[in-house]
Amino acid sequence: MRILVTGGAGFIGSEYVRMLLGVPGGDASGVPAVEPTTVTVLDKLTYSGNLDNLAPVRDDPRLRFVRGDICDPATVDEVVAGQDVVVHFAAESHVDRSIEGAAPFVTTNVLGTQTLLDAALRHGTGRFVHVSTDEVYGSIDSGSWTETWPLAPNSPYSASKAGSDLLALAYHRTHGMDVVVTRCSNNYGPYQFPEKVVPLFVTNLLDGGTVPLYGDGGNIRDWLHVHDHCRGIAMVAHAGRSGEVYHIGGGTELSNKELTGRLLEACDAGWDRVVPVADRKGHDRRYSLDISKINTELGYAPSIDLDEGLTRTVAWYRDNRAWWEPLKKASGA
Ligand SMILES: NC(=O)c1ccc[n+]([C@@H]2O[C@H](COP(=O)([O-])OP(=O)(O)OC[C@H]3O[C@@H](n4cnc5c(N)ncnc54)[C@H](O)[C@@H]3O)[C@@H](O)[C@H]2O)c1
Repeated sequence: MRILVTGGAGFIGSEYVRMLLGVPGGDASGVPAVEPTTVTVLDKLTYSGNLDNLAPVRDDPRLRFVRGDICDPATVDEVVAGQDVVVHFAAESHVDRSIEGAAPFVTTNVLGTQTLLDAALRHGTGRFVHVSTDEVYGSIDSGSWTETWPLAPNSPYSASKAGSDLLALAYHRTHGMDVVVTRCSNNYGPYQFPEKVVPLFVTNLLDGGTVPLYGDGGNIRDWLHVHDHCRGIAMVAHAGRSGEVYHIGGGTELSNKELTGRLLEACDAGWDRVVPVADRKGHDRRYSLDISKINTELGYAPSIDLDEGLTRTVAWYRDNRAWWEPLKKASGA
């Protein structure tokens, strides 16, 4: 099977590539046995893309890396030709950056997805897996979203992801393309660019610095280890029903304040290291996914308990300064 992974040099895409090539970041039981003949990574290597994320599989002869933009029709056409499956991770992914400037989000997330869909349609690609987010639903005070919930995104990031989800589903309905969409909660784990809350806080704390806590710290997120996310995507890619959306969650909801407490504890630091900052504009209060569909249909359940996952994640950042120090220095994160 020939698999194209867009954004495969990013945080989640690289875990997926490592998993496909036999170097997963956790127990791979329950992951469908797929024998890829080739895994092609198409990645622009933006600030968050990093070839070091693929170092554990760099010498695997099945890996092919193409540096290119998913918005470039010629590159996309060449790379999509002959693929059996496309797993589409490439995106601008940071909400705060989308508040500062929405243009790259609309370009990459909407136009880039459409460019890929057109190429997959032209070449008769077997299956197109579109990786999305719970943020497309907006915010929910109580209860949990099911996959049929109306989309009501609030940030330019989530609006651009909602646009790309709808396009992917439209290609299924209009052209009969084999498309599946996954929507997941907040990921954490190794190789995450140190601008997102977990790696930002952990690396600041390891450096003896402070961490910025938005608003009253009461915003609630469900936390999903990146390895569990990739297990869920693999299950959907393998056996998800065409044209369907599947939620992938981690099973532990925490307020940002509770998450901060756990990270402080894991890094042996106290609350004096926390600096309250003005809340993010339009900050969604709570996200919550109902994951019964993927559980019932495909047998997915998260395998990594949050405390264990955070302990492993903190240990990884402690042991891998050489990975994150240059990134922080370059980005001024
Ligand atoms: N991180 C999370 O918690 C989370 C949660 C829900 C959904 N998602 C989704 O998962 C996917 C991956 O997220 P991530 O956290 O790994 O992001 P990331 O920012 O770490 O990685 C994105 C990758 O896409 C590449 N890329 C960006 N623009 C590109 C373009 N125009 N052409 C080709 N490559 C391009 C980057 O170089 C990078 O390697 C995204 O679609 C995101 O919306 C992420």
